[in-house]
Formats: sequence, structure tokens, C-alpha cells
Amino acid sequence: MTGTHESGHVFTRAVGRPVATSATGCTIVAADGRTYLDAAGGAIACSIGHGDPRVVAAMAEQSARVDYVHATQFGTRAVNDYADRLAPLVPVDDVRVFPVSGGSEANETALKLARSYHLSRGEDRHIIMAREGAYHGNTRGVLDASDRALLHRGYEPWIGHSLRVPMANPYRDDRTGAELAAETERIMLDAGVDEIAAFIAEPVSGATLGAVVPPDDYWPAIADVCRRHGVLLILDEVMTGFGRTGKWFAAEHWGIRPDIITSGKGASSGYWPLGLCLAAGAIVDEVEQGGGFAHGFTWSHHPIGAAVAGAVLDALIEDDLVSTATSRGEHLRTRLADSLAGHPNVGDIRGVGLLSAVEFVADRSTRQSFDRIDAVAERITEACFDRAMTIYPCTSAVDGAVGDAVLLGPPLSVTESELDEMADRLIAAIREVLNPR
Ligand SMILES: Cc1ncc(COP(=O)(O)O)c(C=O)c1O
Repeated sequence: MTGTHESGHVFTRAVGRPVATSATGCTIVAADGRTYLDAAGGAIACSIGHGDPRVVAAMAEQSARVDYVHATQFGTRAVNDYADRLAPLVPVDDVRVFPVSGGSEANETALKLARSYHLSRGEDRHIIMAREGAYHGNTRGVLDASDRALLHRGYEPWIGHSLRVPMANPYRDDRTGAELAAETERIMLDAGVDEIAAFIAEPVSGATLGAVVPPDDYWPAIADVCRRHGVLLILDEVMTGFGRTGKWFAAEHWGIRPDIITSGKGASSGYWPLGLCLAAGAIVDEVEQGGGFAHGFTWSHHPIGAAVAGAVLDALIEDDLVSTATSRGEHLRTRLADSLAGHPNVGDIRGVGLLSAVEFVADRSTRQSFDRIDAVAERITEACFDRAMTIYPCTSAVDGAVGDAVLLGPPLSVTESELDEMADRLIAAIREVLNPR
């Protein structure tokens, strides 16, 4: 196929896909001669759009000034300035910023920091609590906290240590947030709350379940349970951070202040592989007093990553992208609902800000999912790609094992007319794969 990857030496993940040759805003031009709409923003990662000259300039300037120093040998102005500018935006008390190379590393860092905190206080808390249908990354530690059957397959001997607590999915569960928090607390008490180090969770469930927003009273109730039992609350905002949901961080929707927030994706908008562990000062101080944090990576605290993230922060502010994500997301979901609300296989259209999902079901009245063998999410993703558009398939949207949904998370710089075009292409793809109605 013209424009497909031709090297036999890449252990490629893009089988049969064209080579991308340039990218600007919400579009990617490929060697097959087509221009693709990036409705998935890569992996819901691009916040400011592709090809922004402000970021290119910042990256070049920092590379020329100080390209790299090891984080244990020198500090850098780039990291110091970025942390100072980011701190007021993060809903974590007296926040300290630990930059790494991606979301999985950020979560590994957070889990180890939580354990170190308890140890330095003389408490042997080690259990990590995580929810059904969670996604926290693919490295071995956070794979255990994640709840995706496909990703666990073959690695079972390495995993199974996390304490699993209920998801909060109003489409499939009519319990209130208070009831879900009470059930979560019951499981914690049964497991022995004195051994639980941290609860890690996505504020809005992303990659597995597809933009599931919990009941309004859920997060305040969960934060209260964690606080009462001395369990650190780690909010995984790798997907939801940096304006994706219409707030700088999704925690703000419910007025909660977690002990640790992790982020990534939109922080650097894809211009640099960046993750962030954003921890409360009191936690970091306790760990420092207890002997320090024996943790780090060759590329952590990278100055070019910080310069890139600083330029992305500027662009998000200058272009007012965070608050407009709310109205843009509503526009998209209204467009989708106008055309799809009566479709026999569209179970739910949901989301917040520019994180939106459509869940597909075999039977709307029972909410019965399709058999996985039907590969509905994959086929709709493929039908969108045929229409020159990326979307993100969720192949276990019910319970981490089965269930089909697709996520849309374009760059926050997307225009209304681009959103209309994205809606049209998705609707056409759904009608091709499922029912023409
Ligand atoms: C909520 C969440 N946490 C963690 C990760 C892992 O991030 P990364 O792929 O950058 O390691 C992801 C990636 O999709 C995510 O959505």
C-alpha cells in the first residue's frame, strides 16, 4: 500500500498504516496523500494542536542553552521556572513537581512515594487500591493497578496484588456516590485498612471505560473515606489534566484536593515525552526526613521537557483553551446526540469538556454489550480511519474485559467546524459498521 511503513526493522505498532509526513493543528498529512483529522489527539494526548511554532522555538532555545544534565547533579532554570508557574494551577497543597517521561512512570513514582511516606512515618502500609476498569499504564507496577484483561493476559503471575474496589459508572450502576464510597470503605475495612497505602483512580474513567463521569457526590465522599483512614488519594489525571475536561485539573469539578496528582499527555501535548508526579509538600517533606526518596530515571527533570511544557502552558493560557473546552465538548456531544440518540446500538453518549465517548450495545433496553469477537470498537475505528480520521477504541468498556466504546479527544484548539466534520465522519462510520439507522 502506498505510504505504508516500509522498514522491516521497526517493531511497528502501525501495521498497514501510512507514514505521517507533517502535522498542524488538528490535522495530520500522510504519505498516502490524505489529510487526517486527529479526533483522538494521538492517544488523547495533544492539547494545543500539532506544529505550534511557539513550542518549536522553546524546544530549540532550550536545546541550545542546556540540553541535558542529570537531575542528581544539577538543577535547571527550565525545571524551576516551570514548577513555579505550574504550582498555582494544581489543586494539591504546597505542591512539589517530579517530572518524568510519561504517565506510567508518573504513576509508578506516585505509588512508590506513597509507600515511602508511610514507611518514614513508621507504618508498613503497602496495599494499593484501584478501581474496576482502571487504566494507569503498562509498566509492570501500574499494570497491576490497571484492570484490563487483554493487557494482563500472560502476565498474571506478576500481578494480582491491588485491592480492587468498584468503578463509578452511572450508565450501568444506579448507586449514588455515597453508596459507592460506603462499599469502597467496606472493602477497605475487610482488607485491613492499616495496610492500605494509597487509592489511585482516574477522576473521569478514560481509556478502558470511555469518558465515564461519576455521580457528583462520589469524589467528595471518596476523599473523605481516604482521609479518615490515612490512605493517600492519588488522582490519575494523565488523561484529564491540563484542560481536557474544561478545568486545569478534573479534581476541580468536585472541589477535592488529592494528596498526589499524576499527569502527562496534555502537559507537553506530545512535543516531548513527559509525565508529572505532583505531590503535596507535606508528603515530600516527610519522605525527605525519613531518609529521602530512592527513585529516579535518567531522563527525569529533563530541561527540554520543562521548556516544552512551559510553552504548552503559555499556549493553553494565551489561546484560552481550557475554558473553551467546555462549550466545544458540549457542541460535539449535542451534534452526536442529535443524530445518534435513537440509534438501536448507541447505548450512551457521554463525557466532559473535550473528552467524549459513545458506547455501543447489542440491546439498548438491557444494555447488553456486543460479543468481543464482533470487534465493534475496532471496526468503527477502522471505518473512521478509512474516512481519514483518528479515534480511540475502548474495547473493554463494561468491565475491563468486554464492551465497546470509542473516545474522541481532539486537540483543545479544535474549531467548531472541525468538530462538526468529526461528528459527521463518526456518524457515517457507525452507520456503516452497525445499523444504517
Ligand atoms: C489515566 C491514564 N494513566 C496512565 C496512562 C499511561 O500513560 P503513558 O502511556 O504515558 O505511560 C494513561 C494512558 O493512556 C492514562 O490514560
